[in-house]
Amino acid sequence: MSAASALMARINRTLVLTLLIAASSIFLLFQIYNYRLYSTKNGLDVFNSKRYLSGKEAHLHLLKKFLGLVHKFKLPVFLVDTASLTLLSQDAVLYRDSRLSEPHCSFFCTHRDFTTFALYGNLWKYDAALLEASAERGLELMEIRGKDPRLISTDDLTAKEIPLHFLFRFNGRLVHVAVLYERSGKYLWHGPLRLGDGMDRTFTAFGKLDFGRHAGAYDRPELILTTLDGLDVRIPRNFSGFVREFSGSRFLECRSREAKAFYQLYPEDTSAEAVDFKMRAKSLLHLASKVLSVLGVPFWLSSGTCLGWYRQCNIIPYSKDVDLGIWIKDYRDDITQAFQKAGLPLKHKFGKVEDSLELSFQGNDVKLDIFFFYDEGDVVWNGGTQAKSGKKFKYVFPRFSLCWAELMELKVQVPCETRDYVMANYGPNWNVPVKTWDWKSSPSNVQENGVWPVREWDDVIQVY
Ligand SMILES: *[C@@H]1O[C@H](CO)[C@@H](O)[C@H](O)[C@H]1NC(C)=O
Repeated sequence: MSAASALMARINRTLVLTLLIAASSIFLLFQIYNYRLYSTKNGLDVFNSKRYLSGKEAHLHLLKKFLGLVHKFKLPVFLVDTASLTLLSQDAVLYRDSRLSEPHCSFFCTHRDFTTFALYGNLWKYDAALLEASAERGLELMEIRGKDPRLISTDDLTAKEIPLHFLFRFNGRLVHVAVLYERSGKYLWHGPLRLGDGMDRTFTAFGKLDFGRHAGAYDRPELILTTLDGLDVRIPRNFSGFVREFSGSRFLECRSREAKAFYQLYPEDTSAEAVDFKMRAKSLLHLASKVLSVLGVPFWLSSGTCLGWYRQCNIIPYSKDVDLGIWIKDYRDDITQAFQKAGLPLKHKFGKVEDSLELSFQGNDVKLDIFFFYDEGDVVWNGGTQAKSGKKFKYVFPRFSLCWAELMELKVQVPCETRDYVMANYGPNWNVPVKTWDWKSSPSNVQENGVWPVREWDDVIQVY
């Protein structure tokens, strides 16, 4: 062997050795990477003392912790999250996804970083140990309380505080629990989420939460148990109906403080006639609400009945009738028949569907007036007709949306912009009782609107 070839052999050996070392190092690094990937997935992260979770993982983790807590404290919760319920389909609920060995986060992981549940406050005994148990699970808990509106009346404005909202936070993600209470109209109510002095305003971005921006009212939903993303939860059976109900759920509390002040100026009429009238008006209101809800026709308190709710949380005893408003788009031919079947004969019908329709039914010594409202650009209006002259009138209101409220133990709608509505109708002195009222001239918003042509009278002026 020459000296040159011996040198070549040594270089070759070194090269092979280097390549081998490089290859095995790469293989080792690959193994480490794989193990790390595997261990993170399975929660055995040995490389990071501070665990990093992806958004989805953190969210499911929070939900598992929360549902564990709910189970331990027997909290009657159900899912009301509008984003999650919107993602649901009938199939997902029926076939569940519990068969999947590794659940995806398809329903709870939405575009938002929170999930909302409702809790039946009436079925649950408040337990202060909740705070401690949350901390044990690594959940930060914030509780928002407020006055119990069921204890407030025009006689007594004091009330104890009750829990209204709970927020469970984990890794920057949130479970929001809105507490629902049953009110005297047999509906469910949750309070607004308002932070008191000294509360942590940075706990979460409160503006993004949808339950609690306002108080809300709901009919009691039927619940079913299902499995979503591998987690057992209760949801409203009609989840799409619930989401729709949520969008119009805003609730206005009656202004007890102002009503009390009103009654101090103008003491309540407690005569037998006044008490009797209020009782009849109450049962007429309940009956009308039932008839219209069976037909699926939404309505709101109008004129004097709306004024009574807004001004004095009550029915005005000298008002002599119950006034309701209905959008003309919701008119149905079978409304009259439905009221007659319920024992309320038609008293008069003025106008026609295309113009100034008004129906009046005779209750037990109390009249039910239904005014149909028409859309006209920036304003809405309802019509009036004078039977003897055929004169038409128009009552114009600023546009409004509808909110829920309670009157006489009934959940009813009122214009959300109640003050504007009442002011339009009764003027700036709406807060002063007026016993002599002429519907053709007293309202602030009345306009003359011509006369019905005589040939139409048989149709547009029907008096029974
Ligand atoms: C769900 O509720 C809506 C009203 O919000 C209703 O129209 C629909 O019929 C309901 N569906 C079922 C299956 O009850």
